[in-house]
Amino acid sequence: NGVESVSQSSFSFAEIARGVDGTHHVPDGYIADVLIRWGDPVFPDSPSFDPANQTSESQHKQFGQSNDFIGFVALPPEADGADRALLCVNHEYTKATMMFPGVAPNYPASMTKTHCETEMAAHGGSIIEIRRREDDGWDVLQESHFNRRVTAATTPMTLTGPAAGHDRMKTSEDPDGLTVSGTVNNCAGGITPWNTYLMAEENLHGYFIGDLPENHPETRNHKRYNVGGSPRYVWGRFFDRYDLGKEPNEPNRFGWIVEVDPLDPTSTPKKRTALGRTKHEGAESVIAPSGRVVVYSGDDERFDYLYKFVSKNKFVEGDRKANMSLLDEGVLYVARFNESGTVDWLPLTFGHGLLTPENDFHSQADVLIETRRAADLLEATPMDRPEDVEPDPRTGRVWVMLTNNHLRTEDQVNAANPRSENRFGHIIEIIEPNGDFTAKQSRWEFLVKCGDPDDPSSGAMWNAQTSANGWFGSPDNCAIDPSGRLWVATDGNPATGANDGLWAMETKGEMRGTGRAFFRSPVGAEVTGPRFSDDGRTLFIAVQHPGDSNGATFENPSTRWPDFDPAMTARSAVLAIRKKDGGVIGS
Ligand code: FEO
Ligand code: CA
Ligand code: CA
Ligand code: CA
Repeated sequence: NGVESVSQSSFSFAEIARGVDGTHHVPDGYIADVLIRWGDPVFPDSPSFDPANQTSESQHKQFGQSNDFIGFVALPPEADGADRALLCVNHEYTKATMMFPGVAPNYPASMTKTHCETEMAAHGGSIIEIRRREDDGWDVLQESHFNRRVTAATTPMTLTGPAAGHDRMKTSEDPDGLTVSGTVNNCAGGITPWNTYLMAEENLHGYFIGDLPENHPETRNHKRYNVGGSPRYVWGRFFDRYDLGKEPNEPNRFGWIVEVDPLDPTSTPKKRTALGRTKHEGAESVIAPSGRVVVYSGDDERFDYLYKFVSKNKFVEGDRKANMSLLDEGVLYVARFNESGTVDWLPLTFGHGLLTPENDFHSQADVLIETRRAADLLEATPMDRPEDVEPDPRTGRVWVMLTNNHLRTEDQVNAANPRSENRFGHIIEIIEPNGDFTAKQSRWEFLVKCGDPDDPSSGAMWNAQTSANGWFGSPDNCAIDPSGRLWVATDGNPATGANDGLWAMETKGEMRGTGRAFFRSPVGAEVTGPRFSDDGRTLFIAVQHPGDSNGATFENPSTRWPDFDPAMTARSAVLAIRKKDGGVIGS
């Protein structure tokens, strides 16, 4: 199914070279335009970016920090025929020492309430309308009524699904357990077949200061998510909800998949609890032949798991209202990879197997709030940090990025994670039988094992046709282009001695397992959010945390990309990449 014998590359661009420098690189014949940067206006009345005087108020009207996931939702063309679309962009995190002048020398004591509120406003997501120019580049339309900022602290969100309203979801601000202010750590995500924007909440643990006593009913739960002990933010100094001692249930309200309707800027985002609570990297969805919707998601932690959610009800073409509740009912499965090349999908259903009161699960809400502990009991396969997962509706194949896990020891290897001290990660292909994404048993194979193919000690596995530029380490985000070709972005490739980037990957025929270098990021950055326009002629890339090398600060980033202005620090930005001849990307 979908495999033909191809001995020639399906890509014809001139591969770029590995390397380390302060700017980005694309192949000859390509143009990369900076579309929008941290601090750029999202609305006509957005204040211009003034890094020395940042406030929550200004940041609420500006493009946020650390752009990650990019979704592309086509809109009907303009009267003059120009292409229009919405870009849905996540803002994963903030790092105060790279964000504010003067903070680094005395961090975290230097943090003020204003800093914290500005960080919150820089989180979340941006929905921006873009319009294609005659020269094929894109402009942001500040006056579009679709434009919206979603943030960490001020965007009300409704909890839906089995955990909504449960006692463990209640806080003093929200005694009903039904409404959460904001979302954090939105890493990757997805666009559903009904054109909603899924924002995955990932590293929720860093937001909570304080600790709970050993005998507190939430202590075991929080430990399983590393909540408490190692906060990355000091918001809890100024806001009780981020202080565990004061609000022990607040962390239970993060780690979900958030569904946003980008076509209705007044809509209230929904936290869909049926999809489980983990450090979700992303949430890419597909319609199975039966009409059920399947959402794949990796839990990005060393030794954590891969999940898929299968909706109870079927997608109805043209009935957007009905499709809007598909993610509230269904079965969440966790993957067990077997030596024999099969994957078993184990249902996380209250009352089944070990998910019973004997093990402290008293409802489906408990199972979902403690998704990780439930999956532990089912003996799911501990993976090497599952990042992005992309199903391909054309072939029934699913690509799973496993970024790395240097802590795996020899006695912890398993069939699907075969390398101890896995510093470079690997990519697994799951084959859903007859394209049935709802299957309870699938097959799996390796696509590549990352690292240097010329270094036998790396244990790398690539097609022999991969060039010295074509291999990489630490796959993270990925995208399938409109002709079904896989593209992989990295976060951690500097461990191989070269900057992070984006590689085209052959998945079929004799070239299968060959990488080809397409894009290189400036130093200190990772590459996130790759996303193609529907016609495949534009590739949007999010360059995240440029200049953030070891020891870098706001004042001294390792590059001042993309402005290269001595008075401006480095800024995360979205690039729109196109071919000079207007052709399809990768051709
Ligand atoms: Fe936010 Fe798993 O990268
Ligand atoms: Ca990231
Ligand atoms: Ca990521
Ligand atoms: Ca990563």
